[in-house]
Amino acid sequence: MFYSKLRKVLFQFDPETIHDVTIKSLKNTGKTPLNAFYSQKTIQKPVEVMGITFPNPVGLAAGLDKNGECVDAFLAMGFGFVEVGTVTPRPQPGNEKPRLFRIEEKQAIINRMGFNNKGVDYLVDQVQKAKRNGIVGINIGKNKNTPEEHAKDDYVICMRKVYEHADYITVNISSPNTPGLRSLQYGEALNELLAALKAEQASLAAKHGKYVPLAVKIAPDSTEEEIQGIAQCLLDNDIDAVIATNTTLDRDKVAGLAHADEAGGLSGAPVTDKSTEVIKMLSTALAGKMPIIGVGGIMNAKDAQEKLDAGASLLQVYTGFIYQGPDLIKEILTSI
Ligand SMILES: Cc1cc2nc3c(=O)[nH]c(=O)nc-3n(C[C@H](O)[C@H](O)[C@H](O)COP(=O)(O)O)c2cc1C
Repeated sequence: MFYSKLRKVLFQFDPETIHDVTIKSLKNTGKTPLNAFYSQKTIQKPVEVMGITFPNPVGLAAGLDKNGECVDAFLAMGFGFVEVGTVTPRPQPGNEKPRLFRIEEKQAIINRMGFNNKGVDYLVDQVQKAKRNGIVGINIGKNKNTPEEHAKDDYVICMRKVYEHADYITVNISSPNTPGLRSLQYGEALNELLAALKAEQASLAAKHGKYVPLAVKIAPDSTEEEIQGIAQCLLDNDIDAVIATNTTLDRDKVAGLAHADEAGGLSGAPVTDKSTEVIKMLSTALAGKMPIIGVGGIMNAKDAQEKLDAGASLLQVYTGFIYQGPDLIKEILTSI
């Protein structure tokens, strides 16, 4: 109720300006009593996935807190877990502005942020400073100016730096806004990347005496055959979970609307069914051998339930959270 009024005001302004102001205020209040303004009791519906006990299955998806500055604030809102990043080895500015657009008629967003972030060292410092009353995943990627043939090195650098500080690590190979990134999802490129990261995980586990699971985040724009190939490769490499999905390049559901032709990834209600379809395909291909984290257009409890029915064990929200606010967490958890 309160959020729907606040949203009316917030949506009068440029999306990225509001995003930056919100992140700044959450960063400044997250560890203070002022977080009472947005705190909600964490609803307990524990679920064990990847060997981790999550207090509840509703998490914040990557990309909202790219630098890990608001872990405490988002956990205070009642999320069962928070995924920070995508972070890259070196800081980078991302694409030119404007790069973030709302399509309100469809409860959607188009973004081409391009992994704007302050770099992995800054993120680690922020996560270390957090009180961290919950589960924190760290999502890693590659710098734009790292040649595609050296992409693996960027993931390894990030993995080494975040390993100790993450409850799980997400390998993001599905952003549409870093040239060439999505090609890492297929064939030998995927196999080589995952084999290298698994080897790194084994040596880091030995070094730190702690096993940190690896999740791989995929796009919604692959064919069924491609998804089957991805699933097999994830199984072959003993990956711990798959996150489905990132944003879509498909514009069918927003055709003709303002901003629909902006380049970037589309999220929110127009991607709901597409993501759920990918989860169903993965679920069949993985046959229960690997957990699925469902994300993409969860705007209400029904969407959440459909993701669970399709085979997801955990859920993440981003665009639904922008449109509904923290009430969405409660709405989902009281009805699934
Ligand atoms: C503005 C914006 C930035 C995003 N940045 C990232 C990111 O850095 N890394 C990532 O893995 N996903 C990123 N995503 C994708 C979301 O995590 C999520 O997978 C996608 O938006 C679908 O979920 P939704 O419909 O609930 O938003 C971003 C999404 C948006 C809207």
